Amino acid sequence: MRKGILLAGGSGTRLYPITQVVCKQLLPIYDKPMIYYPLCTLMQAGITEILVICTETDLPLFKSLLKDGRQWGINIDYTIQAKPEGLAQALILAEPFLDGSPSALILGDNLFYGHQLQATLHAANNMTDACIFAYHVANPQAYGVIEFDQHKQVISITEKPAIPKSNFAMPGLYFFDHKACQYAKNVLPSHRGELEIVDVIQQYLDSGKLNVDILGRGTAWLDTGTPDAMAEATQYIAAIEKRQGLKISCPEEVAFVMGLIDQQQLTLLANQLIKSGYGQYLLSLLNKNFPNEMH
Ligand code: DAU
Repeated sequence: MRKGILLAGGSGTRLYPITQVVCKQLLPIYDKPMIYYPLCTLMQAGITEILVICTETDLPLFKSLLKDGRQWGINIDYTIQAKPEGLAQALILAEPFLDGSPSALILGDNLFYGHQLQATLHAANNMTDACIFAYHVANPQAYGVIEFDQHKQVISITEKPAIPKSNFAMPGLYFFDHKACQYAKNVLPSHRGELEIVDVIQQYLDSGKLNVDILGRGTAWLDTGTPDAMAEATQYIAAIEKRQGLKISCPEEVAFVMGLIDQQQLTLLANQLIKSGYGQYLLSLLNKNFPNEMH
């Protein structure tokens, strides 16, 4: 069974003073904390064993918000990352939790939404080899960049290149087999002193065990790296939620629709939040009969 790793550490200095007291992943994106979005992405992939990695200071806050996950029919464990020494370090820290299982690593500030996303996530979860994603962006130099040949085979993956070889960025969601911890241990710190995730992915590429799935135009991968990006993400989520009357990345709803919690539990959760529109929304789900394609 694949296990999930939700990386929610980091210093957040790029968002100061907003993140001087509260960490980035606990800030709101419209009507819910940012971390709900990547958490729901893992749940929608069918992953129910999840490790949250955060700083020691933030640990009590995450525990108070997410608890042990049982309220949403999942299991959440926690580990501390003392210093932000790179995304690949998450795989080393997660080794005891993974205990030889394949993993899905997601960054706590990455938001995904779109048509057929759940099917895409399920397909990645069912792969034996590693799977990462590619997404066309206007500013590839801010991300890991994937270069393809004309047959859509990967030629190179480079972290924040000054001159990008393509417009395809690598989102912060990576599906790995059981070798990821070992590969992460092979990585040496980069010039910025971090264990880079591209150096783990390169080892999968070298061994011919890397799949890259291009996320199409119908999928939104949203950034939260700057105050503008956060505001835009909030506006995007607000616009869709208001138009559809459906919430994006609501863990209670995802758990209910996936059969991880029953009506009684959903009612209990709703009543705890009843003074907000969020709680009212959860209650409204009890009487809904969604056709399958709406999940
Ligand atoms: O968002 C996708 C991008 O994420 C990828 O395209 C890049 O290849 C990948 O390196 C990463 O780039 P960022 O510049 O966004 O990485 P950043 O250092 O900002 O870290 C991303 C999140 O992970 C951030 O919310 C903080 C958290 N983090 C980061 C590091 C380095 C940790 O929790 N621990 C860490 O050690």
